[in-house]
Amino acid sequence: MTERMFEEKQHSSLYQKYRFDPPDELKALILQYLDKKKGKPHQLAVDLGCGTGQNSRPLTAYFEQVVGIDVSESQVEQARAVPGFPNLSYRVGTAEELPFPDDSVDLLTAASAAHWFNAERFIKEATRVLKPRGCLALFGYGDSMKMHYESCGDRLNNIYEEVKQILLPYTSSKVTGANSKLNDLFEAIPFPDKERIEIIPIKQQLSIKNVIGFVQTFSMYQAYLRADPSAATTLLERTTSRIQEEMKVSSTEAKVDFIMEYFCVLACKPE
Ligand SMILES: C[S@@+](CC[C@H](N)C(=O)[O-])C[C@H]1O[C@@H](n2cnc3c(N)ncnc32)[C@H](O)[C@@H]1O
Repeated sequence: MTERMFEEKQHSSLYQKYRFDPPDELKALILQYLDKKKGKPHQLAVDLGCGTGQNSRPLTAYFEQVVGIDVSESQVEQARAVPGFPNLSYRVGTAEELPFPDDSVDLLTAASAAHWFNAERFIKEATRVLKPRGCLALFGYGDSMKMHYESCGDRLNNIYEEVKQILLPYTSSKVTGANSKLNDLFEAIPFPDKERIEIIPIKQQLSIKNVIGFVQTFSMYQAYLRADPSAATTLLERTTSRIQEEMKVSSTEAKVDFIMEYFCVLACKPE
């Protein structure tokens, strides 16, 4: 059964504000894979578990049509509110039951979402809708994020580790499963032509405000907020001020280097 974790409007608006677009390196890797395995034309890309559309919008530059699908109405509502992408549409629905004919999709993506799917039903459906030589690209990032700022050394990372420990009891087993970098899902894909890249390091600059906003988007933070609103709010306030103290800055606009490790499963349906 699909877990309903992203249903609240407030959570979706945090998503729209604080989740990142996929890095350029990863986009290039996926498009090169599709070009090599299937080639053009690039007619239809479907972004599963699209959330508020961060991975759907960049695909519009490369495909005639892009469809984002998410089980959460509030995520889809937020995604639809972003104007300017005439070849992009969204539908509320599940990755396990796709509204496309057999052999009709060039590329199926899922960004930080495939760990939520029912693996067996999703793979069956992906196999049905992909064109021959059509590709799957499932990616996300592990929880080993690191922060660097001048001479702070590991102190910022220690703060982040403490936050992770507090959120651990609120973490869904599906999210813990994502930390295996989709290994089980990868093993279950029946296509002989497949690969799993375990570490794609990406560094970006994020303001303290955005780091905290990103933590707020985590399903485990939202679960903590539901269980104990006052403790969850205090955790964010304390974490913000601890980071500022370590960095010796007064503004939450000050930026840190934020390093994440992406992973990616690529697979190509046989002829
Ligand atoms: C962690 S969010 C990622 C959203 C977006 N792809 C991103 O990168 O920001 C996971 C999304 O998957 C959706 N989801 C979970 N299970 C799903 C399923 N079985 N079918 C479709 N969407 C699903 C959730 O509603 C949520 O929006």
